[in-house]
Amino acid sequence: MGSIFHFPTRLIFSSDAAEDLVQELSHVEGPKVALLTDKGIISAGLAEPFLNKLAAAGVPVEVFSDIPGNPNVQDVLPAFEAARKAGSTHVVALGGGSVIDTAKAVGILLGNPGLDWEDLQWGRAKLEKPALPVISIPTTAGTGSESTHVTVIGDHTGFKKGVVHPEVFSKIAILDGSLTLSLPPKLTAATGMDVLVHAIEAYLGKRANPMTDLFALGAIRAAVRWLPEATHNGKNLEARKAMIEAATIAGIAMDQAGLGLDHAIAGPLANTYHLHHGLAVAVLLPPTLAFDAPAISPERWEALREAMRLPASSKPEDFSGWAKKFIADLGLPTRLSEVGLQKADIAKLAESTTRMAMFGNNIRQATAEDCAKLMEEYL
Ligand SMILES: [Fe+2]
Repeated sequence: MGSIFHFPTRLIFSSDAAEDLVQELSHVEGPKVALLTDKGIISAGLAEPFLNKLAAAGVPVEVFSDIPGNPNVQDVLPAFEAARKAGSTHVVALGGGSVIDTAKAVGILLGNPGLDWEDLQWGRAKLEKPALPVISIPTTAGTGSESTHVTVIGDHTGFKKGVVHPEVFSKIAILDGSLTLSLPPKLTAATGMDVLVHAIEAYLGKRANPMTDLFALGAIRAAVRWLPEATHNGKNLEARKAMIEAATIAGIAMDQAGLGLDHAIAGPLANTYHLHHGLAVAVLLPPTLAFDAPAISPERWEALREAMRLPASSKPEDFSGWAKKFIADLGLPTRLSEVGLQKADIAKLAESTTRMAMFGNNIRQATAEDCAKLMEEYL
């Protein structure tokens, strides 16, 4: 089968997400909302405007805020039960990737009574009915979960196994940069680097097509321009707006085109040392770009370097050095030892990398030996 582009989510570029949420629900007969969020969002006061506006509009709301980072099926089921008991017609996700992934799973379960999530994720059951509509409102500019048709939930052992299906797409995503104004610089930089790496890997991936190229290059252009500003001057709303939009746009590109070697190594690396995902993909960008450089054609490079505002004389071999400086300027580490990598673990990590789904999508095919060598060089 050829490469496909399918993106059904209604995107709202917003400057008042609570108002836009109420507006969207006003088109629906008798909506009842399950609002999924986490404790950090509640204590930061971010949920309040939503609750106030929904109450003023007479929309019943069931709030569920007990969603941890990296949710497992045990974390999803209570959210599902709360929404089911309340008779919810819509699931609203207010949070980062973990909240949005949970909401997408809850939407599937609400639409398919009796379905066992683990049966679905391990292929023992199929989706038969549509999901209930999910409205995603991201509060970080990072994972792009609001624009993908995958939800990654751990099974009862904690093993992360994604469910990929067109029914997983959010029905609506509301993108409001003001929700990210209070994110501290380190978190802004790490989540923003996830955006940039999604876009770069989607552009360089084997499944890239003319549509994903548009999204990937657009997100690269925005992240290169605005991530330093969002990191160093967090109150700049223009930068925050550009980054939350770039996260969604990069999400579309990576959802359709896939990822590459950076994310393939980042999975086992972040798991082993309990790293933030964005930090892991950031520190791995210089080594993986150095590996990829010989496989980047002059035509692909031309568009990429333009998006990155690099001079016409620059070459793919300069890409890795550029990434290293970009990351250092954000205040993030550029050596793998700085995030805890131990020499003794490299062989095992390299082996795990080759089992990651995105390993085969990289522009230049690597071996476990290549991965080990690259980690040693950037230790
Ligand atoms: Fe990522």
